[in-house]
Amino acid sequence: MMNILFVNACVRQNSRTKHLADEVLARLGGEVTEIDLQQEAIHPLTAATLKKRDSLAAKNDFEDEMFRYARLLAKADKLVIAAPYWDLSFPSLLKVFIESVNVVGLTFAYGENGVPYGLCRADEMIYITTAGGHIVSDEFGYGYLQRQCEMFYGIPHTTCIKAEGLDVVGADVDQILADAKKEIDIKLNGTLSKIHHKGRNNNE
Ligand SMILES: Cc1cc2nc3c(=O)[nH]c(=O)nc-3n(C[C@H](O)[C@H](O)[C@H](O)COP(=O)(O)O)c2cc1C
Repeated sequence: MMNILFVNACVRQNSRTKHLADEVLARLGGEVTEIDLQQEAIHPLTAATLKKRDSLAAKNDFEDEMFRYARLLAKADKLVIAAPYWDLSFPSLLKVFIESVNVVGLTFAYGENGVPYGLCRADEMIYITTAGGHIVSDEFGYGYLQRQCEMFYGIPHTTCIKAEGLDVVGADVDQILADAKKEIDIKLNGTLSKIHHKGRNNNE
C-alpha cells in the first residue's frame, strides 16, 4: 500500500488549507502518516543540536529521535504538504521541519562534483495552500518546496493545489473552495495516471 507522509503545517482551527488537504488525502488513498507540526516538539537547530547531528551523521547513525522526521521522509512513497500562505511564504514551522529533514546521508547526499542528489523514494510532492489575498509569487512557498524536492530529496514531480482570495471582503469562500476541489480532481487524475519511472536518486 502507498505510504503517504502528510506534513501538516496548518495552524488555525478549521483551517481551509487542511480541509483541502483532507480532500487530497481521501483521493490518494494509501496509508497516511501525519506529522502535525503544531503538535510536535520541533525546534530550530541550535549549536548543540547541530553538533550532535553532525557527529551522528558522520558515523551514519540515524537511530536518534532527532532523525525521526528525516527517516519518515526518506521512506515515504508520496509527500503531501499543507501550508497556508503566511507572510508571502508559509508558517515558520515548515521551515523548521525542512531544517530537520535535510540530513546528509539520510535524505540526500553529495555527489563527487559536490552536487546534491536525493535519497528519498517518493515520486511526487503535492503542496496545498490557501491565501487570504493573492499569492504574489510561488517562489517563497510552493516554489521553494519544489526546489527542495528537486535539489535535495530527489522527488521529481511536484503539484500545487491552491485557493486564493479567501479573506477578500465579499469573497464567496464556499465557491472558492469548491473550485479548488475541482482543481484537485483534475490535477490528481493527471498525477495518478502518470507512470513514474524513477531511480533512487537524480544521478540515475
Ligand atoms: C500570520 C498570517 C500571515 C498571513 N499572511 C498573508 C499574506 O502574506 N498574504 C495573504 O494573501 N494572506 C495572508 N494571510 C491570510 C491567509 O493566507 C489566509 O487566511 C489563509 O486562507 C489561511 O489558511 P487557513 O484557513 O488554512 O488557516 C495570513 C494569515 C495569517 C494568520
